Amino acid sequence: MMPKKKILVTGGAGYIGSHACVELLQAGYDIVVADNLSNSKTESLARVQQITGKNLKFYQADIRDKAALDEIFDQNPIDTVIHFAGLKAVGESCSKPHLYYHNNVYGTLVLTEAMQAAGVKRLVFSSSATVYGESDTPQYAEDFPLGAINPYGRSKAMIEDILRDLSAADHINQDPSPWKIALLRYFNPIGAHASGLIGEDPNGIPNNLMPYISQVAVGKLAQLSVFGNDYPTPDGTGIRDYIHVVDLVKGHIKAIETLDSDAFGPGGCKAYNLGTGRGYSVLEMIQAFERVTGKAINYQIVGRRAGDLAECFANPKRALQELGWQAEKNLDDMVADTWNWQSKNPQGYGSLM
Ligand code: NAD
Ligand code: UD1
Repeated sequence: MMPKKKILVTGGAGYIGSHACVELLQAGYDIVVADNLSNSKTESLARVQQITGKNLKFYQADIRDKAALDEIFDQNPIDTVIHFAGLKAVGESCSKPHLYYHNNVYGTLVLTEAMQAAGVKRLVFSSSATVYGESDTPQYAEDFPLGAINPYGRSKAMIEDILRDLSAADHINQDPSPWKIALLRYFNPIGAHASGLIGEDPNGIPNNLMPYISQVAVGKLAQLSVFGNDYPTPDGTGIRDYIHVVDLVKGHIKAIETLDSDAFGPGGCKAYNLGTGRGYSVLEMIQAFERVTGKAINYQIVGRRAGDLAECFANPKRALQELGWQAEKNLDDMVADTWNWQSKNPQGYGSLM
């Protein structure tokens, strides 16, 4: 059997990246992680190695540091990059737009420059459903118009544009080894590895629903605020497409395999939604959490959060047809695995185990 390829995972110490490292190692890939630890700890990678019984190579490096990236590509025969590194807090992106564009957009420019210099032109990029603009229907397909409404979302949309342009330039330049790029648009990743050893460990008070609910359940936070119950949805609360993080990272492995296959063609840049295709409301999420964990969630209804849509879920058909991927885990799995991680690690990676 051919040895599996060597993958550079940027942002691999983070929430989604650490779960990707587990799946990649278990699938037999060799991995190198580059992370500046701005929103993570090396403990996550220690636990990845504990779960898999396999080693990975770690560089504490910033993707904006070209010399550091050159060294990584020099020292390792990298074949493909999975690019998770990025800042992701919408509110912070509104108060610090320069930081977000510098980290996310400039960082990706430096990364792709280093890749190109090293002759590595296969890339799987963490995009987001947040790149979509307003739509008449709540189920988003990849060809829907784009129109992000905050600096974080726009940083993702700009990166998508840059990557499409890089790929288009290959045609003009008749490049014999063109870029092969998958833009993976995540819906709402939640959950954790079934071992309870790795999971989401947000800094400070969480912005997102699921980590907030689980911190209320574990007693770290007093009460959940439900942002609005007057949306045009069956129970009035917002509906989202929550996807188990392990399903999500399996989509990345399918994307790598697809980039390598004849089906993808000689080169190109293509977007894929990674979602389940079904939505749950905030109240349904609270009920599911209470049902699965037996914990009561203290909540109050407050006003809407600025920038929130009533309803947003994926049309996941393209990922099924072209990547051969679909989500397999259900809501109860997502909730049970979130709780398993949260209850075993009430202080995240800062907990004593
Ligand atoms: P995370 O913050 O847990 O992980 C991101 C990792 O990137 C962290 O370990 C951080 O230290 C690292 N990083 C940030 N800037 C860096 C830089 N300049 N150089 C090197 N490393 C850097 O976030 P996550 O939830 O795992 O998200 C991973 C990716 O997926 C991000 O790009 C995010 O925007 C995207 N995404 C996440 C979600 C979500 O809900 N979690 C949804 C859509 C898209
Ligand atoms: C948010 C971001 C989005 C980002 C995504 C994943 C905004 C406007 N959007 O999406 O750009 O890609 O996270 O990181 O921030 N809710 C509550 N109470 C809470 C938290 C959330 O009621 O304390 C509700 C929200 O109003 C929403 C649902 O729960 O209806 C999900 O919210 P969240 O987890 O923040 O995800 P998104 O808003 O979809």
